[in-house]
Amino acid sequence: MEELATRSIVDQSAFKLSMRQLAGAVSVITVGEGDERTGFTATSVSSLSAEAPSIIVSLNRGSSSWPVVERYRRFCVNVLTANQRHVAQSFAGFDGRQGAERYEDAQWYRLSTGTAALKDALTVLDCELETVLNHHSHAILIGRVCAIETREDVEPLLYWRGGYRRLSGEAVTCP
Ligand SMILES: Cc1cc2nc3c(=O)[nH]c(=O)nc-3n(C[C@H](O)[C@H](O)[C@H](O)COP(=O)(O)O)c2cc1C
Repeated sequence: MEELATRSIVDQSAFKLSMRQLAGAVSVITVGEGDERTGFTATSVSSLSAEAPSIIVSLNRGSSSWPVVERYRRFCVNVLTANQRHVAQSFAGFDGRQGAERYEDAQWYRLSTGTAALKDALTVLDCELETVLNHHSHAILIGRVCAIETREDVEPLLYWRGGYRRLSGEAVTCP
């Protein structure tokens, strides 16, 4: 087979349109302590390995959370429930709040590691930052999970085609 001499150029807007088709769970990543607390909303959370329980999150290095992640070298993933959309909005910076102000409209508890965890989240994963892979504008954070809390009785908040969604319909089963 003939090898391509150059990489094909993909239009950025076509890429963004394609990525809008990915339905994802919405999480809030909390970082820092006290007045240095901040955080960001993320759909890029993914499981990496179970044997050494680890996850991946990608973070824009232009974000206010990046220097705090670098300093504290830990973060907490709070996977949101369907009725925690306002928390997603605050941590995405959509209501203009910065840093610790983003924590004002929800209830939090302090993990033994010092990071804040969201009360009533679908699941909470407290992580130590093990590896950072820089790639263009973003850093891929690999976190070793050191504590977990999970609720089974609530539905996730989803994001798809630029909007928040709820799960609906029956589970699709294999024949
Ligand atoms: C649904 C949703 C998903 C997002 N996912 C990510 C993500 O995975 N990684 C990221 O760096 N930013 C993501 N963002 C953007 C950040 O939440 C936002 O840029 C950040 O909180 C604001 O940056 P600031 O702290 O510098 O104000 C997402 C935003 C939304 C609304």
